[in-house]
Amino acid sequence: MTKVRKAVIPAAGLGTRFLPATKAQPKEMLPLLDKPAIQYVVEEAVGAGLTDIIIITGRGKHAIVDHFDRSFELEHFLEAKGKFDELKQVREISDMASIHYIRQRDPLGLGHAVAAAEGHVRDEPFAVLLGDDLIVESTHLLQEMLAVHGKYGRSVLGAMEVSRDDISLYGAIEPELVENEHLARVRSIVEKPAPEDAPSNLAAIGRYVLTPEIFDCLRRTQPGVGGELQLTDAINLLAQEQAVYAYVFEGGRFDVGNKIDYLKATIELAIDRDDIGKEFRSWLGDFVERKKLI
Ligand code: G1P
Repeated sequence: MTKVRKAVIPAAGLGTRFLPATKAQPKEMLPLLDKPAIQYVVEEAVGAGLTDIIIITGRGKHAIVDHFDRSFELEHFLEAKGKFDELKQVREISDMASIHYIRQRDPLGLGHAVAAAEGHVRDEPFAVLLGDDLIVESTHLLQEMLAVHGKYGRSVLGAMEVSRDDISLYGAIEPELVENEHLARVRSIVEKPAPEDAPSNLAAIGRYVLTPEIFDCLRRTQPGVGGELQLTDAINLLAQEQAVYAYVFEGGRFDVGNKIDYLKATIELAIDRDDIGKEFRSWLGDFVERKKLI
């Protein structure tokens, strides 16, 4: 069985939920503390052993390409000033993995973005990581999903129980339990159903391990919700033709495309940091008390 080596990271979206911050900079470059959101995603892929990263970009996304490139002026400056820790950090970003860029000319949907990677992925299984979903490191979700893929050789979706009201924001899975409560077989999946039509509360979150047959399914998929080519619809087709699994996990995920979750993620990251965590935790405790928040 082919080992999964490749990760596709769609980053062509317009980021309208974060205007005006995203007017002149890609939403993927918004920082969570001192790192742009997309760096967490690339680090997650690399941490799970994926070495070949394909970022799907669009117009106005140069900052992403620059971020993962060498920065000779900055490196020279840091070296001359003796700022070696910073220099190491900056170099690590460009040495992390082999990163390729594919430009999606028109934003025709997530399925369309993934289809654009076919020429690079070819006939290998691959992972898809959506930048709006931040998975906290301790969760090891992608590793677990890759282990399931290693066992069954089939596609695996990252999945999570959400409230009935929220299911209409996601791909909703009709599951059939296998083995244990963490693993389900996907009977079908439907993109953003009305709560009353959803087959369950089990939502696909933005992590997928896909077999290359998905590309053929994408070719046979018509535009769906919002007039966009939906990855979910292609996965639904795939699930009718070969087994697709859902790996169900709990917690440790933030939708950083949403303002409240963006704030929560920032706070969660800050309290765990070695350099600022202690001071920030103490301030946060005082703040909650001062404002009588609890
Ligand atoms: C996308 C997918 C959806 C999935 C979600 C996870 O939707 O289309 O199936 O559940 O990501 O975050 P989006 O959030 O881009 O609208």
